[in-house]
Amino acid sequence: MSFPDLAMLNKRFGATGRIAFRAGAGGFPVAVLVGPQGSCEVSLYGGHVLCYRPQGQAPVLFMSRRAVFEMGKPIRGGIPVCWPWFGAHPQDKAQPLHGFARLMPWNLLSAEYSAQMTDIKLGLCDNDATRARWPHAFDLTLRIILDATLRVELTTRNRDKVPFTLTEALHTYLRVRDIAHVSVAGLDGVRYLDTLTGQEHAAQKGAVHFHGETDRIYHDPGADPCTVNDEGLGRQVVITKRGSRSTVVWNPWIDKARRMPDFGDDEYPQMLCVETANAAQDVLTLPAGEEHTLAFALRAELRMP
Ligand code: BG6
Repeated sequence: MSFPDLAMLNKRFGATGRIAFRAGAGGFPVAVLVGPQGSCEVSLYGGHVLCYRPQGQAPVLFMSRRAVFEMGKPIRGGIPVCWPWFGAHPQDKAQPLHGFARLMPWNLLSAEYSAQMTDIKLGLCDNDATRARWPHAFDLTLRIILDATLRVELTTRNRDKVPFTLTEALHTYLRVRDIAHVSVAGLDGVRYLDTLTGQEHAAQKGAVHFHGETDRIYHDPGADPCTVNDEGLGRQVVITKRGSRSTVVWNPWIDKARRMPDFGDDEYPQMLCVETANAAQDVLTLPAGEEHTLAFALRAELRMP
């Protein structure tokens, strides 16, 4: 398991002022992308978007000040790729939470730019390390497109001879000013599993507000976008998605924050995860030779005073 060489990445894919590669925290190679209306950074460790900043705005993604950048450990913040299972492995509790894709070095497949966008593609395919955890042959690609929005597309191709099943998530950590003044619209009437109690709830009533630890999987939310209204920042973040039949909403609150070594005890008011997922009973079955794309577009809009 190793990373491509930085000099090679810059020579082959770099473009002055638009696409560059540097050693990030932990020595992991990071792609720095500048688009016509914003910038972002993507780590080749985990295929992990680390930050996103639309022009003239505060950063949109949360990254914990205690995040750990070490091979084999997940990064607390940004957009972890949870794949090929979401949460605990369905049978084997010794397997890592949220799968192994976020713990692996990815390759850079392409990097392009135009007046309208910057666009890179990362890839992970089966190798000895993945087969030790999951027996299947696959191609996983992560495309990140920066235009007026941040678009992330995760495509799974089954290269095996048999069908396989998977759950997955693009585990977006949003940075907010104060969770007490944040709400999520777009889930009204949607059924959900409260992961904290194991209870299924008939329907969300109105917008989601936060008064304590929240860990929910919303089922079949439909095509309506999810809008995170952040009164403190005077901003709304609109998330539109496809290939996803679950939306996960998570904030650890104080007690769980204290139990997480890679998260500051006082950081929970500044983050909220709204995850584009196929999770819980929403298990995908991918026949041999077929592919599936999980994708979202995120648009951050400042509200006029
Ligand atoms: C969320 C889950 O998606 O991820 C939570 O719903 C979990 O239950 C959280 O605690 C963080 O997971 P991890 O493995 O990154 O600590």
